[in-house]
Amino acid sequence: MLKGKTLRVGLVFGGRSAEHEVSLRSARSVLKAIDREKYDVTLIGISKQGKWLAGGDPLQALVAGDVAGLAEAALLGEPGKHELLVLASGADRAPQLSAISTLDVIFPLLHGPYGEDGTVQGLLELADLPYVGSGVLASALAMDKAMCKEVLRAHAIPVTDWQLVTRSAIAAGVEAVAAAAVERFGFPIFTKPANLGSSVGVVKAHDPAELLAALRESARYDRRVLVEPAVNARELEVSVLGNADPLASVVGEVVPVNEFYDYDAKYIDEGSALLIPAPVPAETAEAARRYAVQAFQAIDAAGLARVDYLLDRDTGQLYLNEINTLPGFTSISMYPKLWEASGLGYTELIDRLLALAVERQAEKDQTVKRYEGRASAA
Ligand SMILES: Nc1ncnc2c1ncn2[C@@H]1O[C@H](COP(=O)(O)OP(=O)(O)O)[C@@H](O)[C@H]1O
Ligand SMILES: [Mg+2]
Repeated sequence: MLKGKTLRVGLVFGGRSAEHEVSLRSARSVLKAIDREKYDVTLIGISKQGKWLAGGDPLQALVAGDVAGLAEAALLGEPGKHELLVLASGADRAPQLSAISTLDVIFPLLHGPYGEDGTVQGLLELADLPYVGSGVLASALAMDKAMCKEVLRAHAIPVTDWQLVTRSAIAAGVEAVAAAAVERFGFPIFTKPANLGSSVGVVKAHDPAELLAALRESARYDRRVLVEPAVNARELEVSVLGNADPLASVVGEVVPVNEFYDYDAKYIDEGSALLIPAPVPAETAEAARRYAVQAFQAIDAAGLARVDYLLDRDTGQLYLNEINTLPGFTSISMYPKLWEASGLGYTELIDRLLALAVERQAEKDQTVKRYEGRASAA
């Protein structure tokens, strides 16, 4: 379809979530590796306050924390135009929107809420703009750890037991919430915000006092909190790529430097190791790959996802822990590394994702939007 033509790619990064900085790193890596012969890249930054910014170098500006020289930008949720607009003052000094580029496809490199969770995807759906990754439903489902587990369990994919508690229940009686969790799971217990990532607000509690603090801490980050028994776990990850017939990569293992894979172990403390391929029995690796594809299809994901597991050291049981629909995407992140080990390099991976986005839009365009009577059998 777009042979011989430069595809105009809008790279969106930053955003309002606690994973803003992680997103900037992913964007920097993609920008470095993307094939400039094939793609004409427009940078679109979203500040921590949620302002869309373009013109100049929004990536550098967000990294430096100085966005003074940038223009406020907007994508309208109106089909057909595909224009990135910036706010400028017109001849009469009244603010007006003017188009600075037309976009063929969006690469939303946003992690966490307000980006990985279906919200930005909703805007892109309204605008009929093709975009990399999952649609509204899969994005929202994967972002919500409780809803995702419900769907996975319905598909007979193994997940740990869990209990969902609300911030208001925690505020009304944290002792009762804690007592019920201990009764059900015993220690240690994990608490985590239902919608977040990068281990922000994820706490491991070893005794009743820690559990009270953990529940309060997790509830700061979301109205809904998951309480789970702690698995004595090794952590495996699989990358999935594709639309209707997705492929699973080789399996990787994360060996966190800390007691669990917390924010510091992910981004600050050096020493966490990525083992590729994971040194696990072939049956375990096969099961991880198979469940990854099943889970991807169960939530109707598209493009890419990284599927993470807890492998119980004591029993050998594999639990699917979470699906990340826009996983960390620097060139040294697990998602691209697993593809590299499977024979697909970083630059080619970006190509493939953009092609999948365009293919998916073409597939969606086949949907009849209003009733046309039944197709005749002839
Ligand atoms: N039930 C559990 N048992 C053991 N470790 C867990 C459990 N839940 C979470 N963890 C640890 O906490 C980390 C972050 O939790 P996770 O559910 O993956 O949230 P996030 O979306 O923030 O990555 C995991 O990588 C793992 O190290
Ligand atoms: Mg995780």
